[in-house]
Amino acid sequence: MDTQLFDYTRQDAAGTCSTAHAWAKTPAPLTPSERHALADRARALLKQHDAVLVAHYYVDGALQDLALETGGIVSDSLEMARFGRDHAAQTLVVAGVRFMGETAKILSPEKRVLMPDLEATCSLDLGCPADDFAAFCDAHPDRQVVVYANTSAAVKARADWMVTSSCALEIVADLHAQGRKILWAPDRHLGRYIQEQTGADMLMWNGACIVHDEFKGLELELLRKEHPGAQILVHPESPRSVVEQADVVGSTSALIKAVVEGKAREYIVATDNGILHRMRQLAPGKTLIEAPTAGNSATCKSCAHCPWMAMNGLANLVDCLQSGQPEVHVEEAIRVKAQACITRMLDFTAARKTAAAGMKPGIGAA
Ligand code: 13P
Ligand code: SF4
Repeated sequence: MDTQLFDYTRQDAAGTCSTAHAWAKTPAPLTPSERHALADRARALLKQHDAVLVAHYYVDGALQDLALETGGIVSDSLEMARFGRDHAAQTLVVAGVRFMGETAKILSPEKRVLMPDLEATCSLDLGCPADDFAAFCDAHPDRQVVVYANTSAAVKARADWMVTSSCALEIVADLHAQGRKILWAPDRHLGRYIQEQTGADMLMWNGACIVHDEFKGLELELLRKEHPGAQILVHPESPRSVVEQADVVGSTSALIKAVVEGKAREYIVATDNGILHRMRQLAPGKTLIEAPTAGNSATCKSCAHCPWMAMNGLANLVDCLQSGQPEVHVEEAIRVKAQACITRMLDFTAARKTAAAGMKPGIGAA
């Protein structure tokens, strides 16, 4: 299987939001009274604008709480997409990274989609430029193109399927069962994991998440010895040496479910540490331990927290609701093409959920 190498330093090229730039724009910590005042203001503005807050598990806990309190959602990227599409509100405020806002707009062009900071991006998106990706696809016309959600609208416009970590395995397994060969992009770790699980013929783009790529297998082994009863929960964007030690591999929602339903008292968690906020709320009696990375550096490269997710805060949420900026726009020709591959995924997962509920009444898929 051949691979395509990509130089990640290109994420610092002019016009893109590098990690250093993202950390510099991360909102300053708030005092409790500032936090209360901003949350009150955000609540009032959401109501005034008939807006709903759609947040990811990695953003600031105050935004997650606000989303839940005000009838919005905090979830993984699959459920964020579905919720935004199905909600009646005409304004969606997406607290996450740019591809999440774009997905919301692609699915609901008639709605206004706002984000606290449109520069919040993702190393997987930056590492898969649309022109290079189109050339890769052109060179392999016999393959079904399956792209991860963490890509630009233009990359999705070239794809047959979009997947997220919560459904990638099922969708690729289904394509493999139909005898289809796959061109996969951009996350090499998730791609390898799916390839190993399904046996599918997958040609991979060579991308990675800068946060998950930093989890270390050797250090995890040592930590497990100190906590022999702990369950190991791993997001599949992590390297193989980490995934191999997992008790549960899954999307952010699946990892939360594993803590809530698990019998163990201790959990070692290999994903962005923003997720611990919701885990602590839902499983208060359990001990959560962050999986080891190389440790904090000057730019916090290895601190298990996504610099772009960290750009979302209460103050810029209030600003965007007040000013109606920044708003997400997607060029119509690209939007229409990208919509097809996202809708295919949503239809596939909805059908699977219905089938599962049919087999076991009252129990839906995770
Ligand atoms: P989930 O779809 O599992 O929430 O993952 C999104 C993401 O960006 C993980 O880094
Ligand atoms: Fe992208 Fe990684 Fe951040 Fe998720 S955690 S948004 S994959 S850089």
